[in-house]
Amino acid sequence: MKSIKVTLIAALTADGYIGQNDAHLSTRWTSREDGAFFAKVSKEIGQMVLGSKTFATFNRKLSDRKMYVYSSRVGVENPHGNEIEVVSEEPASLVARLAEEGVEELLICGGTSVYTMFLQAGVIDRLLLTYEPVIFGDGVRLFNAPVDVNVRLTKVYDLSDQTKVHEYEVIHE
Ligand SMILES: NC(=O)c1ccc[n+]([C@@H]2O[C@H](COP(=O)([O-])OP(=O)(O)OC[C@H]3O[C@@H](n4cnc5c(N)ncnc54)[C@H](OP(=O)(O)O)[C@@H]3O)[C@@H](O)[C@H]2O)c1
Repeated sequence: MKSIKVTLIAALTADGYIGQNDAHLSTRWTSREDGAFFAKVSKEIGQMVLGSKTFATFNRKLSDRKMYVYSSRVGVENPHGNEIEVVSEEPASLVARLAEEGVEELLICGGTSVYTMFLQAGVIDRLLLTYEPVIFGDGVRLFNAPVDVNVRLTKVYDLSDQTKVHEYEVIHE
């Protein structure tokens, strides 16, 4: 079977939230440095997976990237003309299908329901978590259901003196 490397990318507040509510656009509270980091990683990988709610928060076209948008609806509004495919299959099925189609890497871009579904399915190999100096106190967490996964911190990137990325490798048992 062909292999595919799957990376989860997210920006977190200092208290572990990824948004204040399900319509919260991340770029309203994340740093410019994190925006540049996300653009670089997503362009390098080229294939993004995201839920329809996160997709709806995007307010512009993201060029040079294909997006697999999870939705139960046949048609997802695509006002900025992004390159999308609407999907609803199990994470392992999607990863296997794309591997067969020659995709080598996949970037899981949220939101919480998609992050949780992919981590629970055991298909995530790496996490890139940006910590921003912001506190929400309440809101949307990185994961929205119990998960039991061991990870190993492999690298810390300094995007600035305030913003750090922790790179974790998932330990597959
Ligand atoms: N800080 C960050 O890095 C970051 C990144 C991304 C998102 N976020 C935040 O995450 C929040 C949104 O998260 P969310 O979990 O509410 O929304 P989401 O994961 O973006 O989208 C949820 C939608 O995905 C579709 N979906 C999920 N599982 C599916 C399945 N198995 N089959 C078919 N469709 C499926 C459904 O779409 P339909 O309703 O169309 O059927 C569902 O309503 C926002 O606050 C956003 O800002 C933060």
